[in-house]
Amino acid sequence: MPTIEQRAYQLKVKDMRSKWKGSQELREKLAASGGEETSEDREPILDGFAPDYDLRLFREAQALAAIKIEEELGDIHTDKGTRFVVMGKYMMEVWYQSPYPGDACRVPRLFVCEYCLNHHTSATGAHRHRAKCVWRHPPGDEVYRKDNLSVWQVDGRKHKQYCQQLCLLAKFFLDHKTLYYDVEPFLFYVMTCADEEGCHVVGYFSKEKNSFLNYNVSCILTLPPYQRQGYGRLLIDFSYLLTKVEGKVGSPETPLSDLGLISYRSYWKEALLRRLCSAPGPTLCIRDLSKDLAIASSDIVSTLQERGLMKYWKGKHIVLKKQEVLEEVSRRCERARCVEASCLRWSPPAAPAPPR
Ligand code: ACO
Ligand code: ZN
Repeated sequence: MPTIEQRAYQLKVKDMRSKWKGSQELREKLAASGGEETSEDREPILDGFAPDYDLRLFREAQALAAIKIEEELGDIHTDKGTRFVVMGKYMMEVWYQSPYPGDACRVPRLFVCEYCLNHHTSATGAHRHRAKCVWRHPPGDEVYRKDNLSVWQVDGRKHKQYCQQLCLLAKFFLDHKTLYYDVEPFLFYVMTCADEEGCHVVGYFSKEKNSFLNYNVSCILTLPPYQRQGYGRLLIDFSYLLTKVEGKVGSPETPLSDLGLISYRSYWKEALLRRLCSAPGPTLCIRDLSKDLAIASSDIVSTLQERGLMKYWKGKHIVLKKQEVLEEVSRRCERARCVEASCLRWSPPAAPAPPR
């Protein structure tokens, strides 16, 4: 129950609010500015906007919030560039710096719209954008859907800005890749997870439209909040599914990062051993395996060697089926999520016309 003083105060505020009719002065100021929006970094004109009591309350709350934010950012050194990127409901600590244009590469927290990927340097700007942004999924064609998981094919030429923003975002978590602006020769496959709000980006890979060296992935990334949950594996599996449909054999662009190498080794090993376990007869041909799995022969051989499964014996290469490995594979096969070929709605993009 409120005390007598609190009740009296409440009545006073109520009385003040009921008498307030808005300010003539504010209306004049707004008319003079032509109703123009103030810049996102400055406080909008608030004098006469609300009763003095409410305005004071708002400013006190704002000051308290500013102190709190200052405390939260206390350990962030502004001279070190971006420390966090805020996207949807996640705040991700960045691993490397990304060359966002202008002030964007200097603010400690960068805000990225999770649907259109446009960036903002302030929470206010991001907030205003969110209220206006009509995007709820990546642009381009949805080429795969199973349950709430989708993959979108986005052409770097048709959706240049989106793809550039995607590359800039990815650079926060990729050390060695340097592609940001020259996105036109690439297709981007963006994986999303859908809920009632929209399709949230989980990760992506980019792929050259015409790769001279048969690379089927150029850059691959799972956003940190989704890492180590099998999405990287799904992206890799998806990249090989496309290569299979193309009737080709592919390999990721080198050099791979440490995490890239771990993920690819794990994928190759599993795909290979799965296939070996079900292979009939005692002989194998690496070329057939490669064709079946769309994995380059060199990657197959290096995987077998790395696992100590390939030996040179009596003048022949032999592959050993080790019992413990077979058991490990059958255990993993039950857990691992794979992409479902029947859920793909895709045919290889037409090759460009040869020069006359
Ligand atoms: N430490 C140890 N192992 C790991 C780690 C880690 N931090 N992260 C993933 N793994 C292992 C997993 O245990 C799993 O192995 P397992 O199947 O034997 O258990 C395997 O890697 C794949 O795990 P996923 O959960 O499917 O992969 P994830 O969604 O985490 O994505 C990726 C892997 C894409 C490499 C992610 O770590 C990432 O985005 N890293 C930063 C960007 C990067 O380095 N990309 C690769 C660059 S190379 C290129 O682009 C061609
Ligand atoms: Zn947006």
